[in-house]
Amino acid sequence: MKYTVLSLFPELIDAFFNLSILGKAVERGIVEYCPVNIRDFAFDRHKTCDDAPYGGGAGMLMLAEPLGRALESVGARNRFEVGDGAEKVRVIYLTPSGRPFTQDLAQELSQERELVLICGRYEGIDQRIIDAYVDDELSIGDYVLSSGETAALVLIDATYRLVDEVITPASLREESFGGGLLEYPQYTRPEIYGNVGLKVPEILLSGHHENIRRWRLMKRVEKTLAMRPELIARGESAGLFDEETRSLIAELQQHKGAKDERDKGD
Ligand code: ADE
Repeated sequence: MKYTVLSLFPELIDAFFNLSILGKAVERGIVEYCPVNIRDFAFDRHKTCDDAPYGGGAGMLMLAEPLGRALESVGARNRFEVGDGAEKVRVIYLTPSGRPFTQDLAQELSQERELVLICGRYEGIDQRIIDAYVDDELSIGDYVLSSGETAALVLIDATYRLVDEVITPASLREESFGGGLLEYPQYTRPEIYGNVGLKVPEILLSGHHENIRRWRLMKRVEKTLAMRPELIARGESAGLFDEETRSLIAELQQHKGAKDERDKGD
């Protein structure tokens, strides 16, 4: 997978590609990083990359021309010039007005050969760049960041680890969102922690693999019902859950319903 990142501050992204598992994936040649400084494509001596919006309003916008030239330099094509059917790299613009970036989308993007990411600054970019070059406008959440670089880092982090051979499949299998559920709680040494003696759940010390598997599934369902009930509803309508999970969901929902009734009565 090649990440081509267009930014006014590529050094914000550089460090990430040098570190930890991502750094190793780059060293092993599984991931490639191509930083592009948009300022290098500015026309004037001051390297201007922003201007006030037509029609007035607060803030500045990133200029179309430097950004368009930067995009052309990495093989992106203006769809009004080459048409929609032409072979193109997938261009993503990170913006709070985009559609939500999810684990499913991370999975899909991780299968691409190359992603070109545009990091916005100021109040955003000229709409004509979006119209001509952008394939996906993506938001990492319902809040506004001062820099698209932070959002791009989130997208890179969520996708590179799903690229084949970066991480062992076993590490990915049971993590949050896999199969539509959040992750179960995990414990490591010591067995008893702190002054009040917080213990690791007995079942995890039992060595009984089937009981542990079932306990973990129950904890995943419990956690998802408590934190993200909409994921349960979504998983049910998408047919993501097997019989065992569905009956655990029903059991825990019934349990919760009865408890709520009791609490109301108190
Ligand atoms: N740029 C600024 N805020 C953002 C967000 N929430 N998602 C993606 N890009 C952004």
